[in-house]
Amino acid sequence: MQWWRDAVFYQVYVPSFTDSDGDGIGDLQGIRGRLGYLELLGVDALWLSPIYASPMVDNGYDITDHRAVDPVWGDLDAVDELIADAHAHGIRVTVDLVPNHTSDQHSWFRAALASPTGSPERDRYHFRPGQGVGGAEPPNSWRSVFGGSAWTREPARDEGPGEWFLHLFSPAQPDLNWTNLEVWADLDKTLRFWLDRGVDGFRIDAAHGMCKQLDGTPPSSDDDPRFDQDAVHDVHRMIRATLDHYPERVAIGAVGVRNATRFARYVRQDELHLAVDTQLAASRFDAEEVRAAIEDCLNAVGSVGAAASWLLSDHDVSRPASRYGAGPVGTARARAMALVQLALPGAAYLYNGDELGLPDADLPDEARRDAVWHHGEDSRDGCRVPQPWEADLPAYGFTTGEPWLPIPDDYAVLGAAEQLEDTGSTLSLYRRALELRREHPGFQAPPSPGPALEWFGAPPGCLAFRRTGTTLVCALNTSPAPVPLPPGDPLLVSGPLDDGMLPPDTAVWLA
Ligand code: GLC
Repeated sequence: MQWWRDAVFYQVYVPSFTDSDGDGIGDLQGIRGRLGYLELLGVDALWLSPIYASPMVDNGYDITDHRAVDPVWGDLDAVDELIADAHAHGIRVTVDLVPNHTSDQHSWFRAALASPTGSPERDRYHFRPGQGVGGAEPPNSWRSVFGGSAWTREPARDEGPGEWFLHLFSPAQPDLNWTNLEVWADLDKTLRFWLDRGVDGFRIDAAHGMCKQLDGTPPSSDDDPRFDQDAVHDVHRMIRATLDHYPERVAIGAVGVRNATRFARYVRQDELHLAVDTQLAASRFDAEEVRAAIEDCLNAVGSVGAAASWLLSDHDVSRPASRYGAGPVGTARARAMALVQLALPGAAYLYNGDELGLPDADLPDEARRDAVWHHGEDSRDGCRVPQPWEADLPAYGFTTGEPWLPIPDDYAVLGAAEQLEDTGSTLSLYRRALELRREHPGFQAPPSPGPALEWFGAPPGCLAFRRTGTTLVCALNTSPAPVPLPPGDPLLVSGPLDDGMLPPDTAVWLA
């Protein structure tokens, strides 16, 4: 059963979901205590951000041991208990996997620094001599995704000038060398370790990374020697071959590749099951842009017979309720886009807090923790603030201690408990949408060859579509004026209709 083709995944950003032990940081027992909520919400699977041993320079994306749980989140028993309980609630559990790099505190990297140039220890990473007088310049001009050079020089050594090591992210995240067979063997061990414990799959971080075009290897990607090299597909085939020994497990890639043809290569028959599209999250609230993003992704995955998977937000981008505009307009648009996302054929990813319509938090500089992100002046902290559960509790029920990021006052009216009681809340909208998606016959499409979606004619600034073979129509109005509804009975509307018309910033499902 290919359960993941149509599944709704819920991303738990573990530090910000629920804290069970009062240290102000979310943890595994905290998640376990919210499984009732997640079942009520109606999600099919969780995606947990990294729970592995880490010095937390990048909130767990810098890993010292891929097969150990950091004590801040809990321990292996807590993982086992969480998986067992989630399964009892009918919810699957997928975990983040970070194969591109380790922490600079990983035993391998420490051993590399302590070993001579050319040693097997160094070969697990990318060490190169510098350029220029005394090797004082980086080996090449590559930039890190977080800003600055992608190379850092190791501390001076007795044997001569230190080498430089490659890090596509922060200097605390040295890149592994994917031409080294030990690196492959270690990932295979990690996959089996977690699969044997019962995880239902992996979200693979920077799945278009890993292999690089260094040292004059001919380029295979159009324009970026750091990412999307042909060799990475061998890594995904290896991952898939391992997963295929375990029934019903899924590999999902965070594939940051814009070119549709190259994107599709990641979801060929013997590679990843799903690749998360990022174009929808990058689109403005504009029917043309949204439609183009949808078409691009559907054409790409359709060309190799894979299912699409849709994401509006995650822990790296501004939340929809802020991104699409400030105040009530942003909220209305985020609600409308949720209906678009959840009507599309394929899997969907929700990011914790989006079901509450949380806006980004405007944090004072001294409260910010994301030190590694240098895209403009923004950090990613604004979308990572802890989840509000209940207005009357200290820290809104997130923790009994001091939350690791301050929770803004305007989250008080967005608590889950209050929203569950309010039929007009964003949480109620999500719950209803997920229920209809699961149960309404209008969503059930018989398998059919050809395009997964049909577009209808729509006024300028609007779009309307249905999943091929179903009766469910979704219409979105991004224009400044109300427009007539397409034919059908409205099942769910993201905001009030205006005299039987679909108002601006609103979406509707009809059957
Ligand atoms: C991915 C993660 C991001 C992290 C980076 C480095 O882009 O989503 O949060 O900082 O990888 O691991």
